[in-house]
Formats: sequence, C-alpha cells, structure tokens
Amino acid sequence: MTSVLETGLKPAWSWLGVDIYRIFHLAAVFGLTCVLLKVIQLYQRRQELIKAFSRFPSHPTHWLYGHVHELLQEGEVLNKVERWSQKYPYAFPLWFGSFSAFLNITHPDYAKVLFARGDPKDNVTYRHIVPWIGKGLLVLHGPKWYQHRKLLTPGFHYDVLKPYVPLIADSTKVMLDKWEQLIAQEKSVELFEHVSLMTLDSIMKCAFSYQSNCQTDRENSYIQAVFDLSYLVHHRLRIFPYHNDLVYWLSPHGFQFRKACQLAHHHTDTVIRERKESLKDEREREKVQKKRHLDFLDILLHAKDENGAGLSDEDVRAEVDTFMFEGHDTTASGISWLLYCMALYPEHQQRCREEIKEILGDRNTIQWDDLGKMTYSSMCIKESLRLYPPVPGVSRQLSKSITFHDGRTLPEEEHATSRASSKHTMRKGEENIFTLQRYEMTAGKKT
Ligand code: HEM
Repeated sequence: MTSVLETGLKPAWSWLGVDIYRIFHLAAVFGLTCVLLKVIQLYQRRQELIKAFSRFPSHPTHWLYGHVHELLQEGEVLNKVERWSQKYPYAFPLWFGSFSAFLNITHPDYAKVLFARGDPKDNVTYRHIVPWIGKGLLVLHGPKWYQHRKLLTPGFHYDVLKPYVPLIADSTKVMLDKWEQLIAQEKSVELFEHVSLMTLDSIMKCAFSYQSNCQTDRENSYIQAVFDLSYLVHHRLRIFPYHNDLVYWLSPHGFQFRKACQLAHHHTDTVIRERKESLKDEREREKVQKKRHLDFLDILLHAKDENGAGLSDEDVRAEVDTFMFEGHDTTASGISWLLYCMALYPEHQQRCREEIKEILGDRNTIQWDDLGKMTYSSMCIKESLRLYPPVPGVSRQLSKSITFHDGRTLPEEEHATSRASSKHTMRKGEENIFTLQRYEMTAGKKT
C-alpha cells in the first residue's frame, strides 16, 4: 500500500508513467560524462600544445592565463611583444590561456619558410570580423579564394585606379578644410577619427561611387555603423573574455555589434540591389558607364569566370563589406602614423613639402602621374609603415607540419603569426630610428 508520504512526494506528472527521478539521474550522468569528456579533450589539447611549442624558447607563462595577464594593459601589448621579440630573435610561443597558443615568428628567415607554403589564413584572428565582412578575399582560402582573386584582379588595373586620384584628393581637401577651422580654436585634435572618415569617404566614392558626405554628415546611419563596427572589432580583440562568442554575444558590446552589423548589411544590400537594377536596362547601363568610371562594384557584378559563373549575392556583399573595412581602416592607421612621424621629424616633413610643391608647380591638386615622382615622400611612408605597421602580423594555420632552417618543427593544425615589424632584426639602438638610408639604394637616389 502506498504511504501518504510517498503519495505526497509523487510529482504531478507521475500519471504519465515516467519516473522523473530516473530521468534526472540519467541527465546528471550524461552531463557529467560530457564534462569529463571535455576535460579529457582539453587536457589532451594542452599536452599537445606543450609538446608542440617545447622546441621553441618561451617567455615564462602562467598555467591558467598563459601570457594574457601580461598583455592586458592597453597600448602596452605591441611594446611588450617587441621586447620579447628581441629576447627570442627567431620565434616564440604566445599563450592565450591554457588551451590556445600560436608561434610568434620574429625573424625573416622563419617568415620566408611560412609564406613560401600557402597555408590557409587562421580562423582565430579574422573570426571576429566575419559576422560583419562575411567570407571575402581577406578570410577566404583555397579554390574559392583563387576564384574571387581572379575575378577581382581587373578591379586593380591602372585604368580603374587612375580616376580614383582626383576623388581621393577631393576627400582630402574636405578634411584639410575642417582642420583649418579647428586650428583657429587652438586646441589639440585627435586626428585618427578625421583621417578615418576621410579614408572611408574616399573608398566609398572610388569603389562604390557612393557620395556619403560622411566627413561633414556624421548623422548618416551607415557611416555610424561602419565606424562603430571598426571600433568594436578592435575593442573585442583587446578584451580577452570577449574572445568567447557566448560571452560577447550576451554582452552590451555584442548587442551593439549585432545591431551595427544589421544596419551595415541593410545598407550594403540596398546599394547592390539598386546598382543591379540600374544595370538591367541596356540603355541605362550604357548611360551610367559613359557618365562615370567603372568602379569596383561594377566589376564585382560583371565578374564571370571561364565557365560563365559570377559571384553570388552573398559573395558580392562579402567583398563589398571586406573592401569597405580593409579599404579604409588600414589606410587611416597608416596615414595617421605618417603624420605622427612627420610631426616628430620636421626636417623630413620639410623635404616632403618641398618635393610635393616642386611637383605641383601652379596646380593645387595631385594627379596620377605625380605619384611616381614623389621619391622622398614615398621613402618616408615606407619608413613610417616599418615603424608602425597598420597590420602588425599575418597569421596562418598550418595545413601540414613545418620545419624551419634550424631544424625546429611545428606540427600540422597549429597557428603561426609572422610579425610585420622588423625592428628586432636591426642593430641594437637603431631599430627605432626614423632613417631613410635603407630605401635610398632601391630609390636609386642619395638624399
Ligand atoms: C596601408 C594600407 C594597407 C595595409 C598595411 C594592408 C595590409 C594587408 C595585409 C598585411 C594583408 C595580408 C593579410 C593576410 O594575408 O592575412 C592584406 C590583405 C588584404 N588587403 Fe590590405 N592593406 C592595406 C590597404 C588595403 C586597401 C586600401 C584595401 C582595399 C581597397 C585592402 C584590401 C585587402 C584585401 C582584400 C586583402 C586580402 C587579399 C587576399 O588575401 O587576396 N588593403 N592587407
């Protein structure tokens, strides 16, 4: 006979004939097994990583944080990695926590071996931008990368690039006019935002024939979204807990990112749709092409391989978003650091000014043919890029094990990043000096 107590404890759904306690028991066993399997998997991964990187000298690492706790201070990351690069002059592992590490290559001899192989881009560095820029040239690899690359190459023909010069000159004038007004206020100005808006304005005009007026109209929601996305991508990279998708997705920054992505995609889709519509009509197409230069978007929409296959709508959008990001963020960073170098070294600034004035003569705007004559200015740009590379490293995931010239190997599947800066390969004390001597030979001119 069932006691009153037992009847009272019976769950309400016992009439279903299901033993709820048994279900809980099974769920607990299942959960624990999953946790145990994950722990074993993580342990094995850690052992694999320790073994893989044991052949390379390493900065002391914490068992849990790896090197992360040493790289938290904003603005210090690159300096610290630079110091370690000098201490370990070929390559050293960088640990992000206990279960993730990559080989940080610091010597050109090592970098040459890596880049001679054509391994795919690693899926860690660019992972955070994919929800925005999709799978365009920057993240693709293998046959699809090759197909896109071949289809887009005509977009970089001189005849396509030449008409971009006056458009970039116009955008630059807008920026300089703004600075003229700001100078009058006699306050310091953060240049990077101004330069970013100028490069964004340029890429939109050149590649997509889109007059955004973003330098003067900051209310434009698309510009705001692209600007927010660029900031949020950099921000996420710096905050290590945000590297986890779930943590980021649930965070206020993750919410902001998703919202900005939606806005940006909506805009890109509209631009592509409108252009497609206008190209449908033969007469309209002829009219449009006569009126303006063939831009990057036209090339994307007309691209066909030897089998007559073009890019899908998704691929077109990925390339548009990729170029929108890559085409303004890197150049903004490069130009801002160049201006910094010119401010630090007024003697070089003066030489550049004289050179450009001489090339311009009576004109007040740069033309395509002028670019090749700017020998001194080009050397300054190269030196600034060497000291402050806008893309500080290039990462690859190894498709097969790699052996360097000194016999050290790194197994398949591991990540290797080659640093863009070569300061540590220079003589001590010379690495941070802004000097043009290293380019004079190639420029064929003594300064
Ligand atoms: C100072 C300016 C720039 C720097 C320092 C820079 C740097 C780089 C680097 C290092 C890569 C190789 C990435 C990798 O292999 O993992 C790359 C790739 C790429 N960049 Fe730039 N870039 C600059 C300007 C631009 C501009 C203006 C555009 C577009 C208009 C652009 C579009 C791309 C694209 C599409 C890729 C992928 C290429 C491929 O894999 O085929 N970049 N860039």
